[in-house]
Parts: sequence; structure tokens; C-alpha cells
Amino acid sequence: MKHRLGVIGYGNMGSWHCENVRDRIAELDVALVYDIDEKRRDLARENGFCVCDTEEEFFASDVDLVLVATPNSYHKNHCISAMEHGKNVISEKPPCLNCEELEEIIATSERTGKLYTVHHNRRFDVDYALIKKLVHSEVLGKQFYLHSRLYGNRGFANAGWKSLYEAGGGLLYDWGIHMIDQILYLYEGDRPVSVYAQLQKVRMTTVDDVCRVTIGFESGMTAHFVADLWCYVPEARWHLEGSDGTAIIDKWFGKEGKIIRAKNQNISWHEGCIYTPNGMSTSLWPRATQDLEELPLPTLEEEPRWETFYENVLATIEGKETQIVTHAQIRNNMKVLMAAFESAKTNQTVKL
Ligand SMILES: NC(=O)c1ccc[n+]([C@@H]2O[C@H](COP(=O)([O-])OP(=O)(O)OC[C@H]3O[C@@H](n4cnc5c(N)ncnc54)[C@H](O)[C@@H]3O)[C@@H](O)[C@H]2O)c1
Repeated sequence: MKHRLGVIGYGNMGSWHCENVRDRIAELDVALVYDIDEKRRDLARENGFCVCDTEEEFFASDVDLVLVATPNSYHKNHCISAMEHGKNVISEKPPCLNCEELEEIIATSERTGKLYTVHHNRRFDVDYALIKKLVHSEVLGKQFYLHSRLYGNRGFANAGWKSLYEAGGGLLYDWGIHMIDQILYLYEGDRPVSVYAQLQKVRMTTVDDVCRVTIGFESGMTAHFVADLWCYVPEARWHLEGSDGTAIIDKWFGKEGKIIRAKNQNISWHEGCIYTPNGMSTSLWPRATQDLEELPLPTLEEEPRWETFYENVLATIEGKETQIVTHAQIRNNMKVLMAAFESAKTNQTVKL
């Protein structure tokens, strides 16, 4: 069965959806586009899409699936309007501005019986597939620390609404939510119990352009992420530590990296000592090279495909699958995101 997609907000991401759905999702037609800005509507027409001129026309149309790609502060109203008009909904991330708004959206989905999900496309990044495989393997021993990092060094491109918190701007709303979703999805089954966050305004004066967030889990696992738009010397995309080894994945969208692992745990700690001009240390004395081994990263049986997201949405609408980005996950992501804002404001760890 062919489904009909309506896209509201034909900006950077809305136009990306239109083109990628047209090219890559055979079971879905991009049937209608609406943007409040006439220039964007003209561009959508030039790009071959059918466009309407008012929001009313858009929601009254016969599309059965709506993709909401407007600025974040509009997500709640656009998602709710779409479901009230009988459409299934994919919202761009973040779902909305806070947990209260999210509850209204989810209540509408439950009342109308319409699908509501969030486009968490970063679950399909190849580096993420690799770290997921490592997290679920035994190769590092008892895992205790995960570090996820993404860097830019040019600040926000054309900040616009992204420079206003009331519009849902700032890097925590923008990239933080992707990184939270990735981390919580890695540790599904474990419960996040604490959040500590620091948000910095390095060049932006109104919203954060650097964010660092630490999430503690019930199991004792700690996950830390950094999104930083002013870093000129990036560190590895992923860094995972276990009692027996450490793995790194070098780059976003890369498959390169390594695992360094202890070959032998029965070494004598008193064999060595580091002497520095200012003192000595036995605990920082490194293992001998022959006590370590370097292993390649695991291979993936299957490359992750972004199309899986849309295929799952369509199969869910047809009752053949259940949605992979669930309401429970969206709620948990939002709780952690809001806890991060609260922590940054109070400079306190927020218990969940
Ligand atoms: N998942 C991802 O990888 C990803 C990447 C980028 C952006 N996004 C998300 O996509 C959404 C849009 O971001 P963007 O970067 O495309 O922003 P953008 O500013 O480029 O596009 C937003 C568009 O919405 C239009 N718009 C504003 N108010 C509207 C209204 N009331 N009704 C209809 N149209 C309206 C604007 O004219 C603009 O064309 C955001 O929620 C953002 O977080 C997701």
C-alpha cells in the first residue's frame, strides 16, 4: 500500500526528508509540502513538490502521514493538529520543549489512535552501530564508562531560531537530544538515575553552544557526552572503558578505531615506578607492551540503514510492526533532557 506524506516546514531538514523519501522510500509519496515562508514554498515547487499555501489546507488534505520539521517550539501544536486531523505523525527531534508538552502530544496520540513517533535518525549511524555492538559484547570486561563526543568549530550555521531558547534553540535541544537518545537506547533495560550538566555560551550570547552531560545508571555505568561547537582538536567520537580493555571509534560516520586490551591480569604492581621531576607514582606505571593486545573493532553483519526508520513507521501504520522509537523512550529522553537543563541551572546533580 502506498502512503502519502505531508511535510510541514520546508527548511534544511524538511527538504532533506522530501528528497530522501522521494529517492529512497518506495512505499511513500511526498504528496504535499507546506511552509509558512513563501520563498520556501516557491523553492519546494521548483524542486518538484506539490505545495499548499495555508496550514488549514495542509491539515485538511488527504495525506496519511505528516512529518513535522518546523522550529522546535511549533512541534507540539503541529503534531497535535495533525493527529486531530486523522494523520499519523513523525516529529523531528527534539519532540517539543518540555515534558508537559510531550504529555499533551502523547495523550493526543492515545486518544486518536494515531501513530506518534520522533525521527531519531542517529540510531542508524554506522559508528553508533559499532559502539552498540561493543556495549553488548564481553570483550572489554566489566564496562563502566562511555564517552560520546561530537565537535564542530564554526558555531551554529545561520543560527536564526536556534539562537532562542523560547524557540527550542541551543545545542542541548539540537544535538543533546540525539546523544541522549543514543545513550539511553544503548543501555535500554538499565535505568538512568542521575544527570549532571554544564552548558556554556562560548560565542552565542543567548543559548548554549557547548554542552557536557553526565548520566548515571542504576547499574553503576556512567555515560558522558559532549557536544561542542568550538573545538579545534577533536577527541575520538566514542570511548568505552571496561575492566579489561578500552575501545575507541575515531570519527562520526567512521568505522576506524581500536580496542586495547589486557592480555594478563596477574601482573605485579610493584614492578615499576614512574619518576617525574616532581615526584613518583606506582599506580600510573603502565602495563608492559607484552601484557597488552590490540584488537580490531568488530565487524557489522549488516550496515545500518536510515530507511529502516520510515519502513518501520509504515509497517506500524499497517499493523505489521510496532514502532521502534516508542513513547516510553521519547518520554525518558525528554526527562533526561529536562534534568540536564535543571542541573545546568542549579549546578547540582539531578536525581531521576
Ligand atoms: N534529525 C536530524 O538529523 C535533524 C537535523 C536538522 C534539523 N532537525 C530538526 O528539524 C527541525 C527543523 O530544523 P531546520 O534545521 O530544518 O530549521 P530551518 O529553520 O532550516 O527550517 C524550519 C522551516 O520551518 C518553517 N516554519 C517556521 N514556522 C513555521 C510554521 N508555523 N508553519 C510552517 N512552517 C514554518 C520555516 O520557514 C523554515 O523553512 C527542527 O526541529 C530540528 O531540530 C533534525
